[in-house]
Amino acid sequence: MKYPKDYLDEIKLRLKVSTVVSKSVSLKKRGKEYVGLSPFKNEKTPSFTVNDEKEFYHCFATSEHGNIFDFVMKTQNFKFGEAVKYLAQLAGMQPYMFSKQDEEREKKWKEYLSIYRKYVDFYHNELLKNDAYSNARDYLKIRSLSKDEVKKFKIGYIEKNPNFFNELKKDFSEKALAETGLFYLDEKKKVYIERFRGRLIFPINNISGQPIALGGRIIEKLDYLAKYINSPETPFFKKGSNLYNIDLARKLSNKFDHIYLVEGYMDVVGLNKNGIENVVANLGTSLTDRQILILNQFFNDIIICFDGDESGYNAAVRAAENSIKELKPEKQISFLFLPNKEDPDSFVNKNGKNFFIDFSKQSKISVHQFIFSHYKRQTNNNPSSMAIFDKKLRSITNTIKDDYIKKYVLEYFLEKISDLAPHTSQGKKNYFIKKSKPLDSTKKHFSDSQTLSAVELKEFSLIYLVMNNLTLMQENIHLIENIKLFTDINIQIFNKIISKLKSGNLKTTEELDLDNQLIEKITKFAPIKHILKNKSDNQHEIIELLDDISRDLNNYDLEFRIQELESMFSKDLSEATFNKLKELKKKQNIN
Ligand code: UTP
Ligand code: MN
Repeated sequence: MKYPKDYLDEIKLRLKVSTVVSKSVSLKKRGKEYVGLSPFKNEKTPSFTVNDEKEFYHCFATSEHGNIFDFVMKTQNFKFGEAVKYLAQLAGMQPYMFSKQDEEREKKWKEYLSIYRKYVDFYHNELLKNDAYSNARDYLKIRSLSKDEVKKFKIGYIEKNPNFFNELKKDFSEKALAETGLFYLDEKKKVYIERFRGRLIFPINNISGQPIALGGRIIEKLDYLAKYINSPETPFFKKGSNLYNIDLARKLSNKFDHIYLVEGYMDVVGLNKNGIENVVANLGTSLTDRQILILNQFFNDIIICFDGDESGYNAAVRAAENSIKELKPEKQISFLFLPNKEDPDSFVNKNGKNFFIDFSKQSKISVHQFIFSHYKRQTNNNPSSMAIFDKKLRSITNTIKDDYIKKYVLEYFLEKISDLAPHTSQGKKNYFIKKSKPLDSTKKHFSDSQTLSAVELKEFSLIYLVMNNLTLMQENIHLIENIKLFTDINIQIFNKIISKLKSGNLKTTEELDLDNQLIEKITKFAPIKHILKNKSDNQHEIIELLDDISRDLNNYDLEFRIQELESMFSKDLSEATFNKLKELKKKQNIN
C-alpha cells in the first residue's frame, strides 16, 4: 500500500535526521554536520555522519547511506510501513489511515500470496525430490522437459490423494484457503478437496512474478477429466487480465520488439526450451483488450501463433476481431499459421529455433490481411455474397478505436475489394462510376472510354460544350461560373476558360492557349460531342444540355460531401453535423 507523498514529506519536514538518529546514536556537532559511532559497525573512532541540510546520514565505514526512513528500517529492522508509523508518531502526526476497505484487501492479498507461495514451493519441491513421484518425472521425460524448464517455470506435481490442506490450516483459515481457488468444498463429505490433485501444475504469475493462479495438466489419460484446468477467478486473479509467463517475457522487451502469443502452457515451455523466451500464453480464454494493452506496454509487435487445427484457427479469427480494435500507430499485430496438426511446441521441437524464427518472419501476416482473407474465403462472386462481405469488413473497421488506423484499414479493405471487381477502378473514381447517372442520350458513348471515370467524362462534356459555344457561354456566364469540377487538370482548364470569358472578347479556342494534348483528349472522349453534332445551332437546346451536365456535377459534389459528413457524423455524433447532413440530403432529393 502506498502512502501519499505529501504525508511522507510532512514527516521529513518535521523531523531532522539528527533528531531521529540521536535517539539511538550519540552525536557530536562538527561544523555543519554531526558525527558519531556507526550503528552499523563496532568501531572506536567515529565514521558516521549526519547532515540535516541534505537530509541524509552516511557511514564511511560501511557505506550505509540514506534518509530517516532508511535509518529506522535498518537499525530497528522495520518494514517501510512500520517506519512510517513510528516516525509519524515521533513527529506528532496522526497515523495515516488507509480506508478500511483498502486495508482489508491488502491484508487478504498478503494472505492469498503467502498461501500460493507455500503451495507452489511445496509441490515444486515434491516433483523435484519425492521418490514417489517418478510417474510425473517419467511423463516429463516423455515430453522431453528437463530439470531446467521445471525449475524455470516452477512446475509442480500434486499427488492423487494430497494432504497439504491440513498442513496449511495450521497457518490460515479455511475461508482464506478456499478463496484461493486451490481447494473446493465437497458438500457431501464436508471436506476440502485439492482442485489440482493428480496434475502437473504450472504457476501463473502476475506481472511482478508473484503466483496468483495455477494451470494443471493431467498426466494419465482419463477421458472424463479435462486435460487442462485453471484456477477459477478469485479477487486477485482475473483471467482476461493475465498472461502466462508475462513476468519473465516482459524482461526481454529491451532485447526484442516482438512477442509471441500462443495458446498453451506447454507451448510457452517448449519454445523456451528451444531458446525462444519472448512468449506468453493467454490461458485458454479468448484474447482480451486488456491483454493486448499489457503486451503493447512492452512490445510493438504481437505475433499470434495458435495451433494449426480448426479450433486454433477459430481462436485466431476471434483474436483478430478482438485485437484489431486495439491496433495503434507504430504497433503491429500479426498471425502465424502453422502446418496442420502442429502447435508451437511440437513445431519448434521438430524444427528448432532458427527454423521457427525464419518461418515466422516469412509467413506471418498482419491482422487486417488475415481478416480480409478469412472473410474473402467465405464469399462467392455474386452480388449478395459480396455485399455481406463488404458490410462485414466495414463493421469490423468501425470497431477500431484509433482514427488513423481506422482510416488506413478501411482504405486497405476498399482497395482490396475493388481489386476483386476489375471492371471498376479504385477509390473515389470507383465511387463515382457506380453512382453516376449519365444522360440517357450520352449513355451509349461511355463504353468508348472505360479508363475515364464518369465524373471526368462529365467534365469533358462541360469543357467541350463551353469551348464550342464561346459566345453563348460569354452571354450566360452566370450559368457556368459556379459549376464545381473534381479532377485537378480539368479544374485548371475550366478556370482558365472562365476567366478569359469574363475578361472580354474571346472568339476562338486558340485564344484560350490550352494544352493541345488535353484538348485532343477532351475532343475525342467528351460524350456530348455526338449529341452536339446535330444541335449546334439551337441555343435553347444547348443551354438545356448545359443544365443537365451542371446538375449531374452538382449531384456528384453533394454525394461526395454527404459521404464526408456521414463519416464525420459517425465519429462526432454532433447535432450540427447531423443537421448539415439532413440539409444536403434534402438538396440531393430536390435535384
Ligand atoms: P492444448 O490442448 O492445445 O494444449 O490446449 P497443449 O499445450 O497442446 O497441451 P499438451 O501439449 O497436450 O500438454 C491449449 C490450452 O488451452 C487450455 C489450456 O490453457 C491449454 O494450455 N485448455 C486446453 C484448457 O483450459 N482445458 C482443456 O481441457 C484443454
Ligand atoms: Mn496445443
